Amino acid sequence: MSETLGIVGGGQLGRMLAMAAARLDVKVVVLDPTPDAPAAQLANQHIVAGYDDVDALVDLAARSDVVTYEFENVPAAGLEALESGGKLRPGRRALSVSQDRLVEKEFFTSVGLRPAPYRRADSHDDIVAAASELTASEIAGSRVDGGEVIVKTRRLGYDGKGQLRVSVQDLLGADNTDGTDIHQQLGGVPLVVEQLIPFECEISVIGARAVDGSMALYDPAVNTHRDGLLAQSVGPSGVDQAVINAATTATRSLLEGLEYVGVIGVEFFVLADGSLLVNEFAPRVHNSGHWTEAACLCSQFEQHVRAVTGRPLGDPQRHSNADMRNLLGDPAEATAEMTAQGDWMVHLYGKTEARPGRKMGHATRLTGPAAL
Ligand SMILES: Nc1ncnc2c1ncn2[C@@H]1O[C@H](COP(=O)(O)OP(=O)(O)O)[C@@H](O)[C@H]1O
Ligand SMILES: [Mg+2]
Repeated sequence: MSETLGIVGGGQLGRMLAMAAARLDVKVVVLDPTPDAPAAQLANQHIVAGYDDVDALVDLAARSDVVTYEFENVPAAGLEALESGGKLRPGRRALSVSQDRLVEKEFFTSVGLRPAPYRRADSHDDIVAAASELTASEIAGSRVDGGEVIVKTRRLGYDGKGQLRVSVQDLLGADNTDGTDIHQQLGGVPLVVEQLIPFECEISVIGARAVDGSMALYDPAVNTHRDGLLAQSVGPSGVDQAVINAATTATRSLLEGLEYVGVIGVEFFVLADGSLLVNEFAPRVHNSGHWTEAACLCSQFEQHVRAVTGRPLGDPQRHSNADMRNLLGDPAEATAEMTAQGDWMVHLYGKTEARPGRKMGHATRLTGPAAL
């Protein structure tokens, strides 16, 4: 009898997990409130229910040998239901740490990693005080760009949503009374304020840890964001081997520290002196790892299915260099062009409605054989 993998969330990540699972003859049941969700189109079963529907989550667990998730904001009540059945992978610790940016940063520090300098802020006055302190300090010998900070909601932010860049001048300026209350603009919720880091580049590591504790890490990719949203991931990253070593070592520390099972995506800022700051991690397959489906024998999606179902990990070696682009908004023109060119692996997510900035698909081009 084949196994069944439950996935909380039916977006594109769940869809790609379902595709990888099918090749291993692992059946998939998806829980998602939207009838025609991208993953539901390919899954064996679909439970149409909200993520906070505890009965539906219990049903998902009952139908599954193991349950995973494709997004990190599963509500706490639902998590309890899943965790108590002993079927949730990665476990609850990874989820609860990644759900709150403040807890996440404290966790980074506890395992010896360095986040961007930050302060907790729960009011407009806190933000002003934090911004003044953070922009007065230096990082890696370079004074912080333009006296700016990034204010982020502790919870529920993604793809650059729930964050604002602001300069100390604007915060302290005379016109600050007319609507620049950043705390209110971000919904009046708990926040963190971060130094705006003048990084050289952003890299990410996709790593995996199996049930037996063994690990497999992909070579880092270099990522370009536009408007807070990933636009492009390229491997190899072009950063020095010492930087690669530091990023992979940091990812191993996280996987160990979280007693993790599954695939993780870890984002870093590379500074001018080659040192690293860790930005955030995602306890799931990650957009900056989509290139692995074209450029590695075992993609991040197969790797995650392997890990959470208790299989041995696959080879993360890149056989080819890769250039992955997200297809945002209406992808028709870009898709037609890439398809006609013939050397792009085009991957569409089956979303019916194309809104500006919405991730509709991605495409990967192999740019040559990887150096061994
Ligand atoms: N402290 C920072 N300094 C400079 N750029 C940042 C900082 N924090 C975030 N950014 C930029 O914004 C992007 C999105 O922020 P991130 O914290 O990763 O949130 P999200 O959860 O939306 O991905 C980052 O990839 C980076 O380009
Ligand atoms: Mg990010």
